[in-house]
Amino acid sequence: MRRERLEDLRGLIDTRLDALAPMADQTHPLLSQAVRYALLAPGKRLRPTLALLAAEQFGGKAAAALDPGCAIEMVHAASLILDDLPCMDDATLRRGQPAVHRRFGEDVAVLAAVALLNEAYGVIARADALPAKARLRLVRTLSEAVGFDGLVAGQLKDLRERRGVAGAAGLHELNRQKTGVLFIAAVEAGAVAGGATGATLAAAQAFAEHLGSAFQILDDLVDATATRAQAGKDVGQDAGKPTLVSLLGLDAARAEMSDRLSLALQSLDPGHRDGPLATFTDALFAPYRQAA
Ligand code: IPE
Ligand code: IPE
Ligand code: MG
Ligand code: MG
Ligand code: MG
Repeated sequence: MRRERLEDLRGLIDTRLDALAPMADQTHPLLSQAVRYALLAPGKRLRPTLALLAAEQFGGKAAAALDPGCAIEMVHAASLILDDLPCMDDATLRRGQPAVHRRFGEDVAVLAAVALLNEAYGVIARADALPAKARLRLVRTLSEAVGFDGLVAGQLKDLRERRGVAGAAGLHELNRQKTGVLFIAAVEAGAVAGGATGATLAAAQAFAEHLGSAFQILDDLVDATATRAQAGKDVGQDAGKPTLVSLLGLDAARAEMSDRLSLALQSLDPGHRDGPLATFTDALFAPYRQAA
């Protein structure tokens, strides 16, 4: 994956997120400010990038997955606002800037998260680059990803039951719920936009599930080893919590991350293993593999 190509995709995503975010004259000015602050902050945009690359990988145009990918980024941004609240991880820095509640207050932060979550479904409903059937499927996928057996449940388990999560298998399941689900939804959205069905679509979903698993291990490694400035967010937040890093130790967690990445790549059909998804994934993890 050429760096210029990734920069082009990033530009496409940021331009579209900017257009989808409300302006001050479309809503309460404080709400538009908080939503724009959270959504347009310099995150990695992994989920929309995966959606665009998946669309290309499976024979479609990246543009067909742009709005679905941005909708998933909205859900992700909402989850970060909530995750940082004092009643959750009580974090102060996010994406290199003060957390939304530190800048705007907790009341505005909660409402901005609800507004983003709500708007995500509207964006999908209006995504007319996709046939109605694909949009409906995506609404369902995203609703399942966020809801009772997804992100919300995973976050609650993370906050209230981590100590009761049994061993590596329990931690992998927790990571799937809180992080994997949005990776799966993003790749699925792109794959469907690209025309994937049947076994090819199932392979794409398996790829995303393993990738999400590797990514949460990476996030836990960052929490344990990076500085606040390097991470652009609070670190050391998982100290004392069971995570795959605390359970296995740094070296074995890095090995587990690499194994999950290999599983991700092996999940793709052989003909897709040097396509855009695989190349992007390799590049994303390359710096951390060298440090391992
Ligand atoms: C952070 O996700 C939260 C997790 C699910 C691990 P990202 O690392 O993708 O956050 P941004 O979007 O780059 O800020
Ligand atoms: C993030 O988990 C998962 C979410 C649902 C937001 P973390 O709590 O590890 O994310 P960071 O490290 O704060 O980004
Ligand atoms: Mg958390
Ligand atoms: Mg957190
Ligand atoms: Mg973390």
